[in-house]
Amino acid sequence: MPKNQKLSDKKVLIAELTSDEAKEIFAQNQIKCDIKYKLPRKKLLEIIADYNAIIVRSETKIDQELLDKAKKLEVVGRGGSGVDNIDIDYAEKKGVVVANTPRANIISAAEHTVGMILASCRNMAWASSFIKAGNWDRKRFKGSEVYGKILGIIGLGKIGGLVAERIKAFGMKIIAYDPYIKQQRFKRYHAQPMQKLEQLLKLADIITIHTPRTQETTNMIAEKEIKMMKSGVRLVNVARGGLFNEQALFQGMKQGKIASVGIDVWEKEPQKDHDLYEFNTVLGTPHLGASTFEAQARVATQVAEQIIEVFHGNKLPKYALNKVSFKK
Ligand code: MLT
Repeated sequence: MPKNQKLSDKKVLIAELTSDEAKEIFAQNQIKCDIKYKLPRKKLLEIIADYNAIIVRSETKIDQELLDKAKKLEVVGRGGSGVDNIDIDYAEKKGVVVANTPRANIISAAEHTVGMILASCRNMAWASSFIKAGNWDRKRFKGSEVYGKILGIIGLGKIGGLVAERIKAFGMKIIAYDPYIKQQRFKRYHAQPMQKLEQLLKLADIITIHTPRTQETTNMIAEKEIKMMKSGVRLVNVARGGLFNEQALFQGMKQGKIASVGIDVWEKEPQKDHDLYEFNTVLGTPHLGASTFEAQARVATQVAEQIIEVFHGNKLPKYALNKVSFKK
């Protein structure tokens, strides 16, 4: 930190839902912090020049327009792992560190995925709304066991690996497609490696995706890919909106090719209305993969600690995603 500056001169904007641990850590360090959730974009652009740091999750766009206005900004803390809402390279050009918390919420995301797989196979959400509406029936909700079925995991990284570990206990066979990992990792998770995505699509009874959203992965599962899948396939996406093309999912559901879709992340969020909502076997949640008390406490702590490290200006924080050199 330049000699003429103190932590108490710094100001942090918490722009998206963040657990209290962050606020407490800032208070202990005499750092001012404003909590302003759901700010309209125009308002955010007006006030961003006042802040040295901003904490966001997936909804706030940190783009060139915002970074140009953010005259004092030193660091963007991303509570979570996905950074498709942040222009990391431009931030670097402006001398703004971007740091995320890539390990803090992975268990929660993996548990949400397994929950979606089981709940989809047993029609839990549909049956629950049915009886709450004053009805009773058992026949229509007959589901399928996962035992002995094939789970196809696209992306066997941190979360994909945790899903594999957990689902193994249910007696599922695991196949995985991930061109970016070593053979050893497939072995570690008892996953049969698929050289091509098509192989996985043809074999899997249930498919879950765990990749970041990039140019390569956006719309990775669209009409052509759905055609290759088994009839009655079940799909789950707790990773990033837009990896599965939503219009193709709609067509696949309408044609009866897809038995169910579990979807936590949407192309556009918030997503209050969607064609997919018309299907009873579409289980939708509002981006809750990381939303547990435990994960959010870890996220808030890690994000606040990294922001303070940037304020000290000695070294880049552990999960910095760009290379900004500090002026002394
Ligand atoms: C993530 O990328 O880790 C999630 O989007 C976190 C969140 O819920 O904000």
